[in-house]
Amino acid sequence: MDSQMAASMDAAQMVLKVPFVIGVAGGTASGKTTVCDMIISQLQNQRVVLISQEAFYHPLTAEQLEKVHEHNFDHPDAFNTELLLSCMEELKHGRGINIPNYDFKLHRSVEPARVVNPSDVIILDGILILHDPRLRDFMNMKIFVDSDSDVRLARRIRRDTVERNRNILNVLDQYSKHVKPGFEDFIRPTKKYADVIIPRGADNDVAIDLIVQHIRTKLGQHDLCKIYSNVFVIQSTFQI
Ligand code: CTP
Repeated sequence: MDSQMAASMDAAQMVLKVPFVIGVAGGTASGKTTVCDMIISQLQNQRVVLISQEAFYHPLTAEQLEKVHEHNFDHPDAFNTELLLSCMEELKHGRGINIPNYDFKLHRSVEPARVVNPSDVIILDGILILHDPRLRDFMNMKIFVDSDSDVRLARRIRRDTVERNRNILNVLDQYSKHVKPGFEDFIRPTKKYADVIIPRGADNDVAIDLIVQHIRTKLGQHDLCKIYSNVFVIQSTFQI
């Protein structure tokens, strides 16, 4: 194989590995993870990976840890978005990555890091996953999970006290100080970027079925597109 053809095969391989990226945003405890799990369970025969924005929280310094109840985890600056962007760049080029393994009790990542292999479909979920335009640019489909705020608060209290070992008064305090304002100021405004808004979150089977059907259609077109690009790269090299 001559070097020109080898280069074109490399280019073709790269084209073939470009994943289909879905962003799933929504307020705290809106059911994002359940929606993602429901989508994943219906996307058989595809390599699908779920990456949560929460893995990219900045670790707290010792000083911040002392005043953890004052820390705002619902602001865009709470996340290391540059790291997430560089991870997406790697995955887009078909390279595997390690992502931080975030611990909500310690407010930092723990070892071992999570290995993420290149995949056909990448689902990114998180409260502010639609906030940064550079992240949105990676996405082929954007979803906003829109659940009632009382339902979300009730779920959040249950989850934080049971799973995250938090005190209920601190949960309520954090909710009124940071979570609710963060939703109003940064999360809800990203709804306008969504291609699909799911009312009632994971309870909405019909919406999720429709989304999955749409993803399957798009994946078919996406694959076809990649194959045509591949053929085009090889043919055009032969014509030179
Ligand atoms: N958070 C926190 N402590 C940290 C890091 C984050 O309390 N050390 C909180 C933030 O206040 C933020 C929430 O975690 O509001 C983000 O997680 P959330 O979206 O609620 O979790 P999911 O399980 O993904 O929610 P869903 O039910 O929608 O799947």
